[in-house]
Amino acid sequence: SDPNLVARATAAKAKLGQRVFVLGHHYQRDEVIQFADVTGDSFKLAREAAARPDAEYIVFCGVHFMAESADILTTEAQRVVLPDLAAGCSMADMAALPQVESAWETLAEVGVADSTVPVTYMNSSADIKGFVGRNGGVVCTSSNAERALQWAFERGQRVLFLPDQHLGRNTAVLKMGLDADDCVLYDPHKPGGGLTAKQLREAKMILWRGHCSVHGRFTLSSVEEVRMRVPGVNVLVHPECRYDVVTAADQVGSTEYIISTIEAAPAGSAWAIGTELNLVRRLANAHPDKQIMFLDRAVCYCSTMNRIDLPHLVWSLEELVAGRVPNQITVDPDTAYHARVALDQMLALP
Ligand code: 13P
Ligand code: SF4
Repeated sequence: SDPNLVARATAAKAKLGQRVFVLGHHYQRDEVIQFADVTGDSFKLAREAAARPDAEYIVFCGVHFMAESADILTTEAQRVVLPDLAAGCSMADMAALPQVESAWETLAEVGVADSTVPVTYMNSSADIKGFVGRNGGVVCTSSNAERALQWAFERGQRVLFLPDQHLGRNTAVLKMGLDADDCVLYDPHKPGGGLTAKQLREAKMILWRGHCSVHGRFTLSSVEEVRMRVPGVNVLVHPECRYDVVTAADQVGSTEYIISTIEAAPAGSAWAIGTELNLVRRLANAHPDKQIMFLDRAVCYCSTMNRIDLPHLVWSLEELVAGRVPNQITVDPDTAYHARVALDQMLALP
């Protein structure tokens, strides 16, 4: 990265000292991650944000829904900064509050809203988390989805899972032993989700029709092809991948899990990893004694994660030094209150 920008970021961070805390998601660029005080998956970063009440500013190098969650979990006085406001998440955008409210009305009309527990993936807007908190549900991440579903099934007969159909299906079928037929797909663009009253009543998992465009690019043939090309390769994927990809893989887990698995792997072992490219590259560079490759031949970054680059980080830090708060992320108090109920419920899962 540009030495001048590195020097400016270093100087600005030194001037701010303990007043600033920089969080970096594992999908961030190397040029950004070098300035993170802590790196992590979504769950770890949420916990870290909540555990830093002394930092005046939290600079969140990640995407919008993560910064919103950090604002909800920090104190009133703390400010959360997202270095580029265009760093959104296409999956989170697939569930809008009016669509979810209309789905809930449909469930009420067929008499099952009372026995349904809403569960939302962290990758959703604060509005959606607020909806889930108001209706007795819980937030989950890729590292605790199974525990969140267990919690939900102790409280209701079915789950409305938002917005990632793949994490929902993979967790329900592969981790909890539900039948694939127990899951139905709710399409927010069709009246009644495109489902009959009978389907809604009989389903155990109502999966929202959302997905991650990055992880959606891995296919069963990506797995088959790498197995042919590299005999003995271990296939390690994120649970946002499609069901057939996860089924064909050797291991599945969150970004934090992927990192610890590679760290523990023996020298000489070969790994094809199905997750975002910045992370796979960093792992390959950090472990030259292991053969680490991207699962697919066509490489793919998360374009919104990548919007946070060193120029944006330098700008944010220098603004803070100058006494201005750039790109502050705030959630309105009513939404924040209810979203916090659902987030606290996640943090309290056994
Ligand atoms: P985790 O880091 O929690 O595994 O999530 C991955 C992701 O897609 C974040 O957007
Ligand atoms: Fe969203 Fe997928 Fe990017 Fe994660 S990797 S931020 S789920 S688009």
